[in-house]
Amino acid sequence: MKKIACHVVTKLLPTACAASVGLAILLTISSTANAQTPSLKDVFKGAFLVGAALNPAQFTEQDARGAALIKAQFNTITPENVLKWERVHPQPGSYSFELPDRYVAFGERNHMFIVGHTLVWHNQTPAWVFQDDKGIPADRETLLKRLHDHIQTVVGRYKGRINGWDVVNEALEEDGTLRQTPWLKIIGDDYLVKAFQFAHEADPQAELYYNDYSLENEAKLKGALELLRKLQAQGVPISGVGIQGHWHMDSPSNEQVNAAITAFGKLGLKVMITELDVDVLPLAFQYMGADVTLSAELQPKLNPYAKGLPNEVQQALAQRYAGLFGVFLKHRGVLQRVTFWCVTDGDSWLNNWPVKGRTNYPLLFDRSGQPKPAFDAVIRVAHSATTQ
Ligand code: GLA
Repeated sequence: MKKIACHVVTKLLPTACAASVGLAILLTISSTANAQTPSLKDVFKGAFLVGAALNPAQFTEQDARGAALIKAQFNTITPENVLKWERVHPQPGSYSFELPDRYVAFGERNHMFIVGHTLVWHNQTPAWVFQDDKGIPADRETLLKRLHDHIQTVVGRYKGRINGWDVVNEALEEDGTLRQTPWLKIIGDDYLVKAFQFAHEADPQAELYYNDYSLENEAKLKGALELLRKLQAQGVPISGVGIQGHWHMDSPSNEQVNAAITAFGKLGLKVMITELDVDVLPLAFQYMGADVTLSAELQPKLNPYAKGLPNEVQQALAQRYAGLFGVFLKHRGVLQRVTFWCVTDGDSWLNNWPVKGRTNYPLLFDRSGQPKPAFDAVIRVAHSATTQ
């Protein structure tokens, strides 16, 4: 962005050290500009926390630019992958805590609200979890014991340090019925109750959440409300619900998002947007959910912005984000946080899902970490709310 400034400065300076002085000035200019960039966490202070899902390069600070951006912009973090079962507990009895430890340490150093993601899911969970020694499906008692040990070990390790856990992820089908996962088939429908109880036992202070996508759709919303009510009626220690928010340019509508937040809020639960991104690319198939196992082949018509995002789409994305944050702000007090799924467009899973190798633009920061028009639009929404 400051190429012109650098060019002008280096031209005015004697040749020998011009380049390095120019670079120093460039760095000063760009860090000053960054320091002046408004901060999402500050503009929404008092309304809700704002966060992002982080990859290891960011929380180990190997990606120094990414880490600096995160510290400046966010006050809550979620690990993109390192606490999923296949990463943290790849083999029976063998845990891999090096990266999760560094994730938690990053959050603590920066005084952030630290989320754990996720304890029970049907994806990114190794096959051995659901099998006995001979490769045949494990029985209920075995799987319950494995679940208990996993939760005790992982949640217990970060007791008092990870503030909230996505305990169960994506337990519902699109029609709102319980998804036919190995968890359900082997344990039965009380697996959710058990998971929340085990997590509460391991860290009684931690907030515990149910997290899913497409919760704005009528059938799934209805199913989720029924499920959550049932859990509450059984005295299950559940504190909140995460609406993932893997959305598109024109779906779901702001009204649908508003209705979902309102409905969950009425249950007395904390509501969170947990995985926000807006896919700007053409649909590969008529499906708007976020099932990570789906895939489609790369074709040029599915990747129209490989060379850059046209201004009109950039502006439409800004509008889309402004609309969504307008809805979020109406729910201050109920909405606890808004977490983006990744930080910059280059980090996003949407470059590879459901079609591998596309160029997507779903977030507020571009591939070089610069704020996009969508960022400015979101900041404006916050400012206009405070001046009203
Ligand atoms: C789901 C999961 C996340 C992540 C995203 C896509 O929403 O909850 O952990 O895998 O899909 O990256």
